[in-house]
Amino acid sequence: MYLSREEERIYEGEEGWAYQVAMKILVKLGDLFNADRLIPIESAHISGVSYKTIGDASIDFIEALSSSGAKARVESTLNPAGIDYEHSEEMISLQEIREKQDRIISAYRSMGIKPILTCTPYYIKRPSEEAHLAWAESSTVMYANSVLHSWTNREGGPSALAAALIGKTPNYGVHRPENRRADVIVKVEAELEDDSDYGALGIHVGRILRDEIPFLYGLRHPSESSLKHLGAAMASSGMASIFYYEAPYPKSSDRLEVIEVDADDVRRAYESLSTTNEKPDMVYIGCPHCSAEEIRNIAKKIRGRRVREDVKLWICTSRYVRERAAEHVRMIEAAGGRVLVDTCAVVTWIKELGVDVLMTNSAKTAFYAPTMNGVETIYASLDECIDASCSN
Ligand code: F3S
Repeated sequence: MYLSREEERIYEGEEGWAYQVAMKILVKLGDLFNADRLIPIESAHISGVSYKTIGDASIDFIEALSSSGAKARVESTLNPAGIDYEHSEEMISLQEIREKQDRIISAYRSMGIKPILTCTPYYIKRPSEEAHLAWAESSTVMYANSVLHSWTNREGGPSALAAALIGKTPNYGVHRPENRRADVIVKVEAELEDDSDYGALGIHVGRILRDEIPFLYGLRHPSESSLKHLGAAMASSGMASIFYYEAPYPKSSDRLEVIEVDADDVRRAYESLSTTNEKPDMVYIGCPHCSAEEIRNIAKKIRGRRVREDVKLWICTSRYVRERAAEHVRMIEAAGGRVLVDTCAVVTWIKELGVDVLMTNSAKTAFYAPTMNGVETIYASLDECIDASCSN
């Protein structure tokens, strides 16, 4: 990969150890994927924030970078952490966990990376169309490429952090127009209504296509939240980082293969995401983190009802959205639900809170929770989730 004189200086360590490490990560990645050069990015979004998911070795690495004085050169933000600091009564109460989580956040913060602690940073600030980004968190990447028309590969935590420190990313993958073309037409013949229908479709399509880019033909005016659930699910069972749902879409010169998806495929995907018929201990909504609109919708559905004593109802979002939806947050909390920030049910410790059965309208959570959280799952629509969590 070509490096400019300035980039070579960083690579040789002339700006210090941390920038050298960051540059080496980017060069390694660039060489691996045949990038021709580094390109400037508008922003970086970094995953690998929850102590539950990254562990002790990563803390040492992040602290070593920050203690050498390295700073992000572009707008940079953080994915959710393992704790909601404002609702500590809902969280696991182990001093050691809290201290380690604090160290992670403060190391990132001292590098100038904003601890917004959300996987929906685009509700706070939308990236520019066609801007190059280095975003980690696969659901965020899918949304950025497919709905917001920005350009980002699926970064891992370390490569997004390296890109933040250098302000650039290697030019490969979907940063190049020729790699953003649709590979397959997916004709959707199923009727999709709830966001969870879109999530089930995403799981099915991700499983069949792996890293091929689909043009989903036949979606009828999907809402932004439906597209968010679709992309998050597709990125969970597959490896794509972009999908198309409206024409015109960039096609390759070859004739595209056509795949049909019907109601049975969607039903089977639903069934595959539920591991039990037992009653849930927790109902979880907010993967990816809710928009203000989704919180308003939940509040509307919950009005006049009461959350059952034996079920936790968790709704996760960012602090920014929680503030903007304050009135509806109050309605949900008055009914006995909790609107949490900074974390989510997957990256915090729910099994340790006594949760054995988790019900959710998020295909991504249902896909990961059995392995990442060791719980049984029930995958259902938003209405079914609200009905299961309320006593009237
Ligand atoms: Fe976000 Fe947690 Fe889901 S980080 S995408 S809410 S698993």
